[in-house]
Amino acid sequence: MAFNKRVKIKTILDQNPIGQEITLMGWVRTKRSNKNVSFIALNDGSIITNYQVVADPNLISEDILKKCSTGACLKVTGIVVESQGAGQSSELNAKSIEVLGEADPEKYPLQPKKHSLEFLRDIAHLRMRTNTFSAVFRVRHALAFAVHKYFNDKGFFYIHTPIITASDAEGAGETFRVTTFDLMNPPKTEEGKIDFKQDFFERETNLTVSGQLEGELAAMALAEIYTFGPTFRAENSNTTRHLAEFWMIEPEMAFYDAEDNQDLAEDFLKYVINYALEHCADDLKFLDQRAAEEEKSKPADQRAELGLIDKLKFVLENDFVRLTYTEAIDILRNSNHNKKKKFQYLIDSWGADLQSEHERYLVEKHFKKPVILTDYPKDIKAFYMRQNDDGKTVAAMDILFPGIGEIVGGSQREERMDKLTQRMREMYIPEEELWWYLDTRRFGATPHAGFGLGFERMVLFVTGMGNIRDVIAFPRTPGNAEF
Ligand code: 4AD
Ligand code: MG
Repeated sequence: MAFNKRVKIKTILDQNPIGQEITLMGWVRTKRSNKNVSFIALNDGSIITNYQVVADPNLISEDILKKCSTGACLKVTGIVVESQGAGQSSELNAKSIEVLGEADPEKYPLQPKKHSLEFLRDIAHLRMRTNTFSAVFRVRHALAFAVHKYFNDKGFFYIHTPIITASDAEGAGETFRVTTFDLMNPPKTEEGKIDFKQDFFERETNLTVSGQLEGELAAMALAEIYTFGPTFRAENSNTTRHLAEFWMIEPEMAFYDAEDNQDLAEDFLKYVINYALEHCADDLKFLDQRAAEEEKSKPADQRAELGLIDKLKFVLENDFVRLTYTEAIDILRNSNHNKKKKFQYLIDSWGADLQSEHERYLVEKHFKKPVILTDYPKDIKAFYMRQNDDGKTVAAMDILFPGIGEIVGGSQREERMDKLTQRMREMYIPEEELWWYLDTRRFGATPHAGFGLGFERMVLFVTGMGNIRDVIAFPRTPGNAEF
């Protein structure tokens, strides 16, 4: 017989197979024993709920029961019976227990008590065994699945853009180099510079910061595409919103203008949030309670007005506010916050880049709704954004979410060859290096647009967690690449 004939706890709870013999496999969360009986709470990852195993010391040896300590992995065969206690409708009367893997109680770091998120970050290899993290990662899965479902159902094609590239799409110079050189002794040219011609790709390469440029190439053939892959940024931002390695979803659409782009982004974000509400009810209920507990520890004036689930529903039920950067600057400049110098960076003139404190002021204090900010000054945005007729702004959009700040960045793209190359020259971006990108403007160019959703920021929003390091399994941040 194959080893894996297990029944998942989720299935048991769905089907309530009273009287049937089944085999359960999972990890011990807690064990309570007295002379007559042991109660073992088992979790198998399929659902947040633990399942109770009842072990009679006349049937299960003392030696085995001793090994059923927190963290141990068990295979339990028994009969599903009506539960005596409150809380769940059935439990498993164990006929036999096999200890698949022991967990020395003296050494196992996860004990059945509340651990801090900081402590759990240090044991990220084990933290998925807690209720909080298993819930977060089940929700993360559902969100990823919803992303694919949304685009697939709309007829978009999933394109895998390269991870290793020679370009820096965002032009921010925050790339991680990729090389096979011996760094102690790299080959040099006659002028004494490092000779990248001798490197693996015969040129300088780095990890991608965005799949957009290649995504645009695909959109010029398949019309509506999206990417969903890892991106890498060597920005030294030690915040609760930044990772050095994060996942980005980048749809790119031919025949879309800026407004079409905004409509798609709003519809997409609402779809994905709604999918989580519909498919992750148990986990979101748990995370909602968890977030409510966290709120209690904050000063009264800093507490969120809505609980997690209410906040998600609120986003679904309301139109996002759309306004231009110029309108936003007026609001910020005239705000009491600015006048009373409560911003760390005061807004005094048009053209200033918005900091996350400004974004969050607009979303959380002023509008109290998600905001789509459009038409930013061209000088604070990337070279590929379509230039507006005013000569000062570009057809950019950033979507700002409560508690998060920027969750999406996108734009209509500059499809006019002369405007694009002129902007590249102004920004010192060599045309020769992007000849293939410029070819899309040479051959069959069309208006097109796209955006990028930072996947972890979405997971952060939906799970109500406070730190982006807690919504990716093994976070990479400055000074941290453990596991
Ligand atoms: O605004 P960004 O830099 O836009 C782009 O990369 C465009 N190429 C997207 C496009 O138009 N196709 O990044 C997009 C989103 C941000 O809004 C943010 O949610 C997320 O990616 N992001 C990060 N998430 C986590 N850690 C970081 N260091 C991030 N940098 C950006
Ligand atoms: Mg951005």
